[in-house]
Amino acid sequence: MKVFVGQPLPEPSTSELLSGHDVVIGRGGLPPEEVSAHLAAADAFLPTPRERVSREVLAAAPRLSIVATCSVGTDHINLAACRERRIAVANTPGVLTDATADLAWALILSVTRRMPEGEALVRSGAWDGWKPLELLGMGLQGKTLGIYGMGRIGTAVARRGEAFGMRILGMSEEDGPDLFERLLAESDVLSIHVPLTPETRGRFGRAELFRMKRGAVLVNTARGPIVDEEALATALEEGQLRGAGLDVYEKEPFVHPRLLGRKDVGLLPHLGSATIETRLAMARTASAEIARFFRGEPLLNPVG
Ligand code: DGY
Repeated sequence: MKVFVGQPLPEPSTSELLSGHDVVIGRGGLPPEEVSAHLAAADAFLPTPRERVSREVLAAAPRLSIVATCSVGTDHINLAACRERRIAVANTPGVLTDATADLAWALILSVTRRMPEGEALVRSGAWDGWKPLELLGMGLQGKTLGIYGMGRIGTAVARRGEAFGMRILGMSEEDGPDLFERLLAESDVLSIHVPLTPETRGRFGRAELFRMKRGAVLVNTARGPIVDEEALATALEEGQLRGAGLDVYEKEPFVHPRLLGRKDVGLLPHLGSATIETRLAMARTASAEIARFFRGEPLLNPVG
C-alpha cells in the first residue's frame, strides 16, 4: 500500500511499523498543491498538525482510505469530509499527556516567576547583583489554578498544581457558562486544554479576558485560535493580565507583533509534545494505526 507521511518523524516508527508498504516522506511545510500531488496515488496519509487535510486535499486523493495523524489534535483535518468519503481517521491520544502538561507548567513557572525578563537581564550584561526588589514574581501556593478543559492533559496539569499547593478549579466545555464565569473571575493562573472546535474558537476574546481576575496569568498550550491575540495584547498592555505563556498561535508560525515585544509573555514554538520519548511514541502510534488498518484490524484510536 502507498503511504504518504507529511514530514520526517522520529524513527524507527515508519521504517519498522510500515515496512512492506511503499512509504514516501514529505519534507514538511509543503503547500497544499504539493501535498495533493503526493496523495494522488496514496492509500494512507500520516499528516502532522502542519499539513491541512482539507476537502480540496481529500478531493485530490481518490484512493485514500485512512488518515492517521501524528497528533492528538484533529482540527487540521476536515472530519466531515472524511466521514462522507468513509475515510478512517485516527490520532495519538494518551502518549503526549505528560509531556504537554509538563510544558504547560514550564510556562506557568516561567511567566509567574518572570523568567524571560530575568534571562534577558543576565544575557544583556546589565545585571549588577542581588536586589530585594528585583523581578518579584507571583507565588503559587494557595492561589487558584483554573483549568479550561479537564481531559487527559488538563487533569495532568491539575495534578501538578496540587503538588504546588494550588487550589484547583477545573471545567470542561460541557459544564456551561456559570462555571466558566467562575473560572474567569477566580483563577490566578488559567491554563487552556480544550480542543479547537467551532465552539472554542475565539473563546477568550476581549470580553472574557477583561472578565478575568485582574493580574491573572493566561497559559495556552492547546490551540492558538482559542485566544484572540489582539485582545490578549491589549489586556496585557492595560495591566488587566500579569502575563501570558503561549506555545500555540492563531496563525502559526506567525506570532502577533504586539506579543513578540512583551517581556511579560513567554513564547514557545509549539513544543508541548516535544520530548524524544513522546514524539517517538506519537510517530509509532500513528504508524501502527495505518499498519493495523491494512491488516484489517480495528483502529485503537479512531476519531469521529
Ligand atoms: C497535538 O498533538 O495536537 C499537538 O499540538 C502536537 O503535539
